[in-house]
Amino acid sequence: MQQSVIFNKALIDRYNRPGPRYTSYPTAVQFHDFDESDYKKVAAASNSGTDPRPLSLYIHIPFCNTVCFYCACSKIITANRKHATRYLQHLSKEIEMQGQLFDRRRPVDQLHLGGGTPTYLSGDQLAELMTVISDNFYLRTDNLGEYSIEVDPRTVEPRTINQLREIGFNRISFGIQDFDPAVQKAVNRIQSYEQVRDVINAARESQFESINVDLIYGLPLQTLSTFDKTLKKIIILNPDRIAIYNYAHLPNLFKTQKQINADDLPSPEEKLQILQLSIQKLTDAGYVYIGMDHFAKPEDELAVAQRNGLLYRNFQGYSTHANCDVIGLGMTSIGRIGNVYSQNKKIINEYEEDIKSDFIPVFRGYTLDSDDQLRAEVISQLICNFRLDIPRIEKLFQINFNSYFAEELNSLEQMRDDGLVELDDKKINVIPAGRLLIRNICTVFDKYMDRKSTTANFSKLI
Ligand SMILES: C[S@@+](CC[C@H](N)C(=O)[O-])C[C@H]1O[C@@H](n2cnc3c(N)ncnc32)[C@H](O)[C@@H]1O
Ligand code: SF4
Repeated sequence: MQQSVIFNKALIDRYNRPGPRYTSYPTAVQFHDFDESDYKKVAAASNSGTDPRPLSLYIHIPFCNTVCFYCACSKIITANRKHATRYLQHLSKEIEMQGQLFDRRRPVDQLHLGGGTPTYLSGDQLAELMTVISDNFYLRTDNLGEYSIEVDPRTVEPRTINQLREIGFNRISFGIQDFDPAVQKAVNRIQSYEQVRDVINAARESQFESINVDLIYGLPLQTLSTFDKTLKKIIILNPDRIAIYNYAHLPNLFKTQKQINADDLPSPEEKLQILQLSIQKLTDAGYVYIGMDHFAKPEDELAVAQRNGLLYRNFQGYSTHANCDVIGLGMTSIGRIGNVYSQNKKIINEYEEDIKSDFIPVFRGYTLDSDDQLRAEVISQLICNFRLDIPRIEKLFQINFNSYFAEELNSLEQMRDDGLVELDDKKINVIPAGRLLIRNICTVFDKYMDRKSTTANFSKLI
């Protein structure tokens, strides 16, 4: 099999600049005022026509028991379970309100419970939540939907995993980050190899379709040698997918990161070596580089979709369901209905107040114009499938690619000369040496990247 990614330090040094992760284009930085009446109009319009799009639900459960110092997720740390009970009441009401806006015949092809930590909730609470969802949306029972949940191994027993399968989840993702005891102590997240092994085995026995694990490189006290040991253990655990996220130390943005001693962080040089080692070990073990920190076994549906040019990316990461309308449920969640993004309120009290007053709790959004739609499609094709079929784009958007993107093509020619892409009138191909730099390649087509305030919000690749 052709190598899926090549680590080229000289190219990384030259091109490694801040850029968005493109779970949306434009990114949330561009969102502006948007309210319930806007949302209801968009939802109603999405039901019209003979064949409305299927649905994708993202549900945010913000709670965690303890804080991991590195964490950049939208979370609430509390031992008081009453907060979760109250939140679930409001979330259930939101699900009912939103369910009334969408045609019940539209199947839910994708569902994702993210956080925070969804398994902060008890098995009974999760089962109840799934019942509320199926009472208000058309959940598939044929196992063809992609129904996933994020699991913190410290919050579950092996039998909980089986319950998750029984209530309808068929994809599962475990947060691991690192197995080294000193690293775990430095980030306040202690979990043993055995604990993780037992829940992964339980997921396999319960016949989850795909098992993902999350790792982070660049954490305090991590070295090439400690991460090598973590990778060996991961390879033995044999997950279908592996995400290796880059830790960006931004303590002014994420307050709990102040508890990390900056002197303990690996140097940029060592981080690069850890990344190189990870790519080497995982590709040697048979994993394919999907892009943007993700690896998958060649037979995993993500790798298959990528080979067929059918991979897609949304707020939930990579997916094989390209044509869904995404409904965000819960605080901070983001949706996309047709060409309109919208986001729910980010502060729990404000979110709950809106629901109490029978309001859909959206507060900002964005409507893509035709130029945004074109650029979003170009970026999506490049980031997901590492190639762009130029005649297809010209036909779809009724443009002449060379003249529309004359300036962008100038920048791409430099990237072609540097060996990141192949380029001609028919296609752009991102070749293995360019793949680690995919988001830098995509920024060429991002018209909002020029704004200084925009780049300040994004982290570098390395
Ligand atoms: C919502 S958490 C996963 C579920 C659960 N809360 C857990 O930690 O096991 C999402 C993932 O984001 C990643 N993550 C969080 N903060 C990060 C940061 N500052 N840099 C890189 N990755 C981060 C971690 O890998 C984590 O597993
Ligand atoms: S990494 Fe997961 S468990 Fe840790 S604080 Fe963040 S969301 Fe919570």
